[in-house]
Formats: sequence, structure tokens, C-alpha cells
Amino acid sequence: MDDTSQPNPTGLRALRELFPVLEQTINGAPLAYLDNAATTQIAQPVLDAMRGFEHRDRANIHRGVHTLSQRATDAFERAREDLKRYVGAGPSHELVFTSGTTDALNMVALGLSIGGERPPVIEPGDQIIVSGIEHHANLVPWQQAARRSGATLSILQPDAQGRLDARDLARLLSPRTRVFAVTACANATGERPPFEEMLALAAEAGALTVLDAAQAVSHEVPAIDALACDFMAFSGHKMYGPMGTGVLVGRRAALERLVPLRFGGDMVQWVTQTGASFAELPARLEGGTPNVAGAVGLAAAAAFIDKVGRGEIDAHVRALRANAAAGLAAIEGVTVLSPEASASAIVSFVAQGAHPHDIGTLLDEQGVAVRTGHHCAQPLIDHLGLGPTTRASFALYNTHDEVERLLAGVARAMEVLR
Ligand code: ALA
Repeated sequence: MDDTSQPNPTGLRALRELFPVLEQTINGAPLAYLDNAATTQIAQPVLDAMRGFEHRDRANIHRGVHTLSQRATDAFERAREDLKRYVGAGPSHELVFTSGTTDALNMVALGLSIGGERPPVIEPGDQIIVSGIEHHANLVPWQQAARRSGATLSILQPDAQGRLDARDLARLLSPRTRVFAVTACANATGERPPFEEMLALAAEAGALTVLDAAQAVSHEVPAIDALACDFMAFSGHKMYGPMGTGVLVGRRAALERLVPLRFGGDMVQWVTQTGASFAELPARLEGGTPNVAGAVGLAAAAAFIDKVGRGEIDAHVRALRANAAAGLAAIEGVTVLSPEASASAIVSFVAQGAHPHDIGTLLDEQGVAVRTGHHCAQPLIDHLGLGPTTRASFALYNTHDEVERLLAGVARAMEVLR
């Protein structure tokens, strides 16, 4: 693929200019930023949208009759509608702003398992099923939910290569399954599970379904209306948007079952000295002053992705991943995790006789930024019988030249370290 002509329509070089951070050198070499599964860089149109809000419209929302407050409220609610469209939410869906995926998944797990105005949805003896390829953010909240409610937590185990099978889920589901939670793409390996089929199976069995879309939403955006999905979560900082922003989007009827976890202004309807009644969705789950500039930036990030083209971005990051996976597998002593995960922007590997921390440090000396460690997915890494790994992850601004630098850097690290 020609690096200067992809992805369309603007060309990769022009796109890179929208990310000034990429223009620097690290240790004397041009930065090759390959840690996008942790955080992507922020796009200039996103910064422009946020600065426009802060310079012109900054005020608190839903609270004032003055013009700035009304403009801020309009900007916030417009961002909500734009993001709903981005994920294909229909009239029966609602979208709640959060500080990220972790925040959103905690809102669901705890909101279903602790009591409030009503008894908790998850009761003693119920079953929660979580896949075994999750980020800790889609596992630890469910461990807590199980403890608090007296439910059992079942893990849908992957095979020895880290792949999930819907038939295993069918065997685990029971009349007591209240929740099934799964990722759209495993952050530690890049594995893309058949989540559409699994969500449908779980919903058919009567469970509430939860999708962690953090690693998919920047290139393979799941259309929630086409899925048997009650709750979907993602973060702004993994889609060229601001850090500390995110979304919980889901079926309104499912969101209504969540007990609010944050009490205070904006989420109440009426307050007396001894009690309060709560507002309707989405305000009900958005207590306190929200990150309005962040919401504006997040919507601008979604618009930016659509302007570049979801299909083009997806094809580009897949091609980078495929080249990286093939090149890494060809280096003696290197084993690529989930080598067949073609629908992904993430490639993770282990190298015989070379510690990932050392590989990462040697790569950084050449300006190549990767992540090393357990990637907040310790149970999966343990299940695969591995220790820490080295992970490269790609975004729309990465080039095949950067993949070549990664491969050369890993080959050199293997020579030095083995
Ligand atoms: N969830 C982020 C990652 O996978 C931090 O790196």
C-alpha cells in the first residue's frame, strides 16, 4: 500500500499534519508512535472544537437562562446526539457521558448489583458470565458485583490461542444468567471474538449484555442498533479524542435499571431535607458538572473518523497489523499472539530469551513507542501460559515505514539481548 495515498481521501501525509505531536524526534530518531491501543494522539480538529467551546461558549449546562449557559447546553446535547448517530443508536437507546470505559463499566456492574430505590437486578444465586479475554476494566467490576450481590462469576474461557467460541457460551448460559460481558477486541492480543453471535445467544437466554468497544470504536465501530447489546462502553482517548472522556450507550430500558452511583446536582428531580427523587435518563446517571469541552471534543473525534472514512481506517490499520504480524513471526525466537486476528489494529508478541521491558527500552532508543507488560489483562496472559508481552498497536496516521522500523528494532533487540 502506498503510504502517501492511504487512507483516503486526504492522504496519509496530510493526515499526519493534523497530529503535530508526531513531528518530534525521540532519542534522535523520528517518533514512531505504536502505542495507540493505550492512547491515540489527539486530532487537530478535536482540539479546535474544544478550544472553540472554551473560548466562546464555556458555562455550566442545564442551569442558566443566560446565553452562554444555553449555548453550552446545546453543545453538550448536540455532542450526545452526534455520538448516538456515530454508534447507530436508535430511538430506544440513550447515551450517557462518562470519564471513560472503566467508568462506564463500573456504572453498569455496580449499578446492577447494589440496591437503591429498587432491589438490585443481580441477586444471590444469579450468574454473571465474563469472557476470559477481557481487560481488567471488564472483569474486576464484575468480580465486585458478584461479591456484593452473592452471584456467581463464571469465566468463558478462551482456547490455548486466546480464541472464544460461542458454543462454549451456549453451554455456560443458564436460566440464572443475569449478565454476559465481552469485549469487541481483546486489548492484550488483538483477538476479535464473535461478539455479535455471543451477545445474541446471551440475550436469547434472558441475560443483559455488555460490550466493551474500547479497542474497536476507532476503526470497526459496532452499530449498537444491529446488536443484541444492552450496554456498550468506549473511551475518547482511544479514538483521537480527549483523555478523561467516554460513553455508556445502551437500551434505555436497560439503562433505567441501573442504580445511580453519583448523587448530587443535575441528577435529581426534587430534593427535600430527608430525601430526593431522581431525574430521567440521561441526567439520572450524570450527576455533577460534566466535562462539556470533553464531550464536544469526543463528538468532534467521531466526526473526524467519519470524515477520513471508517472503512479506509479499518483497512489501513488491518494492513499495518498484518504486515507487522507476518514480519515479527519471521524473526527467529518471536511468537505472535493471536496470529490470525486479521480484524485488529493490535499485535502482541513474546520473544524467547528477551524480556519485553528490554525490547521496549531498546525500541524507545530508536524512537519506536510500544507497550510492554500484562496490558491490564493478567488472567488472559496467565491462561495463555505467558509472561509479559510486547505490544504494538496502530492508528490511522501510522505508516508501513514505521512497521519496518519496528521489525528492524525487534530483530536488533533480539541480537543484543539473546
Ligand atoms: N487499556 C489500555 C491498554 O490496553 C490502557 O493499553
